[in-house]
Amino acid sequence: MRHFLDINQTDPTELRAIIDQARAMKDARNGGPKGNADADQPLKGRMAALIFEKPSTRTRVSFDVGIRQMGGQTMVLSGADMQLGHGETIADTARVLSRYVDLIMIRTFEEATLLEMAEYATVPVINGLTNRTHPCQIMADVMTYEEHRGPIAGKKVVWSGDGNNVCASFIHAAGQFGFDLTFTGPEPLDPERVFIEQARAKGADIRIERDPVKAVQGADLVVTDTWVSMHDPQSARERRHNQLRGYQVNDALMAHARPDALFMHCLPAHRDDEVTSSVMDGPNSVVFDEAENRLHAQKAIVRWSLGL
Ligand code: CP
Ligand code: NVA
Repeated sequence: MRHFLDINQTDPTELRAIIDQARAMKDARNGGPKGNADADQPLKGRMAALIFEKPSTRTRVSFDVGIRQMGGQTMVLSGADMQLGHGETIADTARVLSRYVDLIMIRTFEEATLLEMAEYATVPVINGLTNRTHPCQIMADVMTYEEHRGPIAGKKVVWSGDGNNVCASFIHAAGQFGFDLTFTGPEPLDPERVFIEQARAKGADIRIERDPVKAVQGADLVVTDTWVSMHDPQSARERRHNQLRGYQVNDALMAHARPDALFMHCLPAHRDDEVTSSVMDGPNSVVFDEAENRLHAQKAIVRWSLGL
């Protein structure tokens, strides 16, 4: 059994195998009804707990549907309704859940919660987003880029906006999949230095460029995300909007990227804040393919975690 905690903690050959399997499983379904069982049922007899301490649409539904398509069963649990939210330790929760279920997926606040769950669980634990990273999202994003444009290795990705959890996993992926990434945003919202140094040590060209127009020149892919994440205090909202307004992805900014540059956003989007509707609904946007590929990528992650 293997935990899927972060992209930088999984071997690049295994990450590539996960993407390949996701593609194969997607192709095998061939756009059929979502409720149809996959021809092989690798998760038959398996039970998964999906724990959410924060809201979710995509992660919740895609894990639930994907595990059911593979013949497994799921239970979606709200952290606040569990004893976890009322003082039982994470370690004890991990030990107990491991007696009932074959796999745990958790979306939580502190990374320490995820790590403690992984340390004490005797079944695989999958990171469904923490304040620090969102690895399942970026596996789907790499898959999506390659479906549209071929290998992502050697390409230039530009992240415009907040250097948040999704940005961090993109930086991890740059190191593991061999692409370059330029971050453009205000200095107080820079990604953590440690992520940048790790990716650079693996050979990725990671740059910081304060001018968004300069940053997107030559971009093969432009990515953004909400300006206020779920773990950010609402009191920071106005300040963040003021800091980030100049980093909105709009038609004028996209005009400086390569003409075939894709646009990505993990969603949920705040239209006309971090991205205009013209870009999000425009011909270069693949945001709904990204959302769909969460399903396929996570099915492959679950199989990898369980060795199936
Ligand atoms: N992108 C993403 O993780 O969406 P949800 O918050 O809806 O799960
Ligand atoms: N950065 C966002 C991602 C949501 C999927 C957040 O953490 O709220």
